[in-house]
Amino acid sequence: MPPNNGIERLVRPDLASFVGYSPCKSPDTLAGKVEVPVESIIKLDANENPYGCSPRVNRALAAYPYVNIYPDAAQTELRKQLQKYTSVGAEHIVAGSGSDELIDLILRLFLEPGDEVISCTPTFDMYRFSTKLCGGTMVEIPRDENFAIRVDAVKAAITKRTKVIFVANPNNPTGTLTPRRDILQILDTGLPVVVDEAYYEFSGQTVAPLVTGYANLMVLRTFSKWAGLAGLRVGYGIFPCKIAETLLTIKPPYNVNVAALVAVSESLRDAKYLVGSVQKIITERDRMFNELKQLAWLKPFPSYTNFIFCSVLNGDARELQLKLQSKGIIVRYFGLPFWRNGVRITVGKPEHTDALLKALREASGK
Ligand SMILES: Cc1ncc(COP(=O)(O)O)c(C=O)c1O
Repeated sequence: MPPNNGIERLVRPDLASFVGYSPCKSPDTLAGKVEVPVESIIKLDANENPYGCSPRVNRALAAYPYVNIYPDAAQTELRKQLQKYTSVGAEHIVAGSGSDELIDLILRLFLEPGDEVISCTPTFDMYRFSTKLCGGTMVEIPRDENFAIRVDAVKAAITKRTKVIFVANPNNPTGTLTPRRDILQILDTGLPVVVDEAYYEFSGQTVAPLVTGYANLMVLRTFSKWAGLAGLRVGYGIFPCKIAETLLTIKPPYNVNVAALVAVSESLRDAKYLVGSVQKIITERDRMFNELKQLAWLKPFPSYTNFIFCSVLNGDARELQLKLQSKGIIVRYFGLPFWRNGVRITVGKPEHTDALLKALREASGK
């Protein structure tokens, strides 16, 4: 046996103090710790779709016979289907195991150790996570008081080492939409710009058609939210052709599994059903926003997504999250800078909103 010198001394020193992503809670881990049985927990913390996937997906998965065969590494069929859905040529499209994987692949493609990545905080924490894992430095530009991007500050932060700029549009966790003219100004810097449209189906706003005209624009989308496929992990990006080609080369060969391929195909065939669910969520979001506005101690921000960010004006957001959790309602709280004492609440079904409002009133003692 070799001497046990401890292999940890060989671990990359820059990862010694790495702060991981804080994932959403699985209801099972709360068994016995909350006032309701696990089955009654209302999960409003991960922007999942309360209506689930298309029933066609469940039927097709149950009948799928070829799980013993690797998926097509070139994603040929999937990219063709996505061409039809996005109206952008398949040669621009690459899919990933969630758009999380594409964020990671993009950064692997552009970053060398010490390179910089700009994001506008508060925003999706996977940009920081993957930047650090790739040995890069995250440059965080705080948004203004309405959570709008400060384009001048973004431009002023650019250095010789800036390699990628991320714009989540609409933004997570704030739900804010960035006007197209701001995105165009950021694109005019000529640097690689990732516009993350994970909530596109809720906002209806996209810059995807611009990819064919801008050599530095990359657009990310996902099936996790509108199509209810978060558990199967499938997202895609629309890239300049050369970038798509390289990403196809550096991605793990079988990164989108056969269950996800079947599920996307069935979802796109049943888009009408899924758009119906999106509509129900949008209607409920607007009702929830108006109800939350009635609570003087909360400030909800207008949202173009399937969640609402609320600043807690009177009290502590962490305490509020724990109080709601004890009543079996899970909302999202990150103890990160720029979060402005807020919680993010996913829009559920109408009965979930009713339970949330009741718990909020109880939490404030009214
Ligand atoms: C802005 C944003 N981008 C990407 C993702 C990741 O999506 P996926 O499930 O496809 O990895 C999320 C998920 O919450 C998100 O909010």
